[in-house]
Amino acid sequence: MPLDRSAVLAWYRRNRARSRALFDLLAEDAYYSRPIALRHPIVFYEGHLPAFSFNTLVKKALGGRSIDEPLERLFARGIDPHERTDGSGGSGASTGWPSREVVHAFADEADRRVIDALERDDLDRPGDPLLDRAEAVSAILEHEAMHQETLLYMWHRLPFEWKHAQASYRPLTSGALPRQDWIEIPPGCATLGVSRHAIPFGWDNEFSACVADVGAFRIQRHNVTNAQYLEFVDAGGYANREWWATDDWEWVQREGASHPQFWERRDGRWQWRAMFELIDLPLAWPVYVSHAEASAYARWVGARLPAEAEFQRAAFGSRDGERTHAWGDGEPDVTRGVFDFSSWDPEPAGAHPKGASAWGAEDLVGNGWEWTSTVFAPFPGFRAMPSYPEYSADFFDGEHFVMKGASPATARELLRPTFRNWFRPRYPYVYATFRCVR
Ligand SMILES: [Fe+2]
Repeated sequence: MPLDRSAVLAWYRRNRARSRALFDLLAEDAYYSRPIALRHPIVFYEGHLPAFSFNTLVKKALGGRSIDEPLERLFARGIDPHERTDGSGGSGASTGWPSREVVHAFADEADRRVIDALERDDLDRPGDPLLDRAEAVSAILEHEAMHQETLLYMWHRLPFEWKHAQASYRPLTSGALPRQDWIEIPPGCATLGVSRHAIPFGWDNEFSACVADVGAFRIQRHNVTNAQYLEFVDAGGYANREWWATDDWEWVQREGASHPQFWERRDGRWQWRAMFELIDLPLAWPVYVSHAEASAYARWVGARLPAEAEFQRAAFGSRDGERTHAWGDGEPDVTRGVFDFSSWDPEPAGAHPKGASAWGAEDLVGNGWEWTSTVFAPFPGFRAMPSYPEYSADFFDGEHFVMKGASPATARELLRPTFRNWFRPRYPYVYATFRCVR
């Protein structure tokens, strides 16, 4: 398929406009703060997005000259450090980071050079390691879209007075509690991954295709809601070692964890920390928790988390073969689920029955990523991608778990069945929920 230059340019500009809108939500005071101790301060990301696009496409793939080498290096890598480097959390140390004017000037020039390349250069070069099927172009576009979600995780942690909601923002309500039940999934096959030439672009960890035999299982129709998870909390779930894996229990003890990160206790009532306000715990919403907490809850109800292959079968399988999307062939739109930045926060579980899978499971794509029990690892035939070789390979360490689906902050372009996300099991900030299987 020939490269559609105008579509690529439109996507790049759409990405840049959305990133700018996200940075514009914040007060100046937030700029050098580090809302999550394991991530860089906010200033880094405003430089990183254009720097990655410039470094990958213009410099690395097309051999273009530098704009400013020290800044290109400073803003090159955006992955979270492995361990907390100090205990300061949200400290606002600005030492060593450039001024916002310098970051903006660099970003403007990087944008100019990237757009120039997208308009003019030969971007699709068969046999070229970085430009075969225009790989570097797709990589920079999806990279920025993915970062917009991680920016929102960070913004979520900032004090409310540092964020201003847009005029269209409406106060949140909980909605009606869905009726949870178990759906029987018959035994069958699930395709994991995809062959390289079957889709225009995928990240290296999506290749190649392999087929898993999946035995019969039952899966919950809806995500575990805050109401259901509250029963676990009230039953002393965080005080009982029995429900926790050894490392997870050590984390509970060390951090003094007693509830999900998104919950806050105020005047004896549970509240939910939304993007722009604190609201009474919305009982009907999917609970957002770490893998450790999801696994503990599942053990408590005598169930477990789905394996990645079980998720694939529940989401994309049907009696007549596998589907393009959980709901079938229709394009992703707001009737199918909560994704593509349609909301700052989750919506009630079960509010999008038009997005149900062939078996009737709802919200498998959207309203929160779903934890699986599968350790992130390559599929057979894995080859690190030349445009971003460390993208996956650095995380095949047995310490990350696969998440599937999508969250409210996942761009629609990423909603393909083979897209995989992964996080450490005790990282509590992501828009991730779960459901159980038996
Ligand atoms: Fe990045």
